[in-house]
Amino acid sequence: MGLATLLLALLLPGLCSSLSDFTSSRTTFYGSPECQGNPHGACGYGEFGKVMNGGDVGAVGKLYRGGSGCGACYQIKCTHPELCKEEGVGIVVTDHGYSGDADFVLSAQGFAKLSRPNMAPQLMAYGGIDIQYRRVPCKYPGYNLTIKIKEQSSYPHYLAFVFIHQGGQKDILAVEVWQEDCKQWRPMRRAYGGVFDVENPPEGPLPLRLQVRGEDGGEQSSWVQLNNVIPADWKAGAAYDTAVQLS
Ligand SMILES: *[C@@H]1O[C@H](CO)[C@@H](O)[C@H](O)[C@H]1NC(C)=O
Repeated sequence: MGLATLLLALLLPGLCSSLSDFTSSRTTFYGSPECQGNPHGACGYGEFGKVMNGGDVGAVGKLYRGGSGCGACYQIKCTHPELCKEEGVGIVVTDHGYSGDADFVLSAQGFAKLSRPNMAPQLMAYGGIDIQYRRVPCKYPGYNLTIKIKEQSSYPHYLAFVFIHQGGQKDILAVEVWQEDCKQWRPMRRAYGGVFDVENPPEGPLPLRLQVRGEDGGEQSSWVQLNNVIPADWKAGAAYDTAVQLS
């Protein structure tokens, strides 16, 4: 009995961390000329969505979570021992899409990286494959969370932006902008995907606050404040460093 207890104590932590946090599902891939991401992805990253994470990106169905799943990072591995790499591939969510019972529709390049060296053609011939996935923290070494002002913004009457280089493992649920003349936080609208907008924004510089929460929803959400990130003379197309890294 002593030995059995000892064995259990040795085995359990390993089992829990290696099995319990992966979820079984399926993935397919979409075709695009460069095999990279889709610049028209529903999250609203635009051209940047093509090259995010080096093009290892994908669309998700239920994991999209109304757009708050945009920018989330997942480790995906397929389970066919001869064809699939053990560690799989890390991808970033840039789009919304379904394909049968698959939770992921990856860029062709991301899908190919599931395979062992030289096995990509065989793997791609399957079209759809069984996978295991888990959420992992996004890492953008050398970058802070950054605000990319959307091109369709029109200074000073209409402001729309999306977050890029969103590190860590939390969803951005809501964004509010400080209205100095009323001394209150004013909610921005989630226009679509990861894009937040506001008509007639207050005059800058604009303090913002973000409501963030882990995906499981078990923990409480919290607010992260960004002080004067968007300058008074903000410009469509510009990117502004927030000096903050989400964890
Ligand atoms: C990120 O933020 C830190 C301050 O928190 C700042 O020192 C650093 O220059 C920022 N990085 C970039 C790339 O702007």
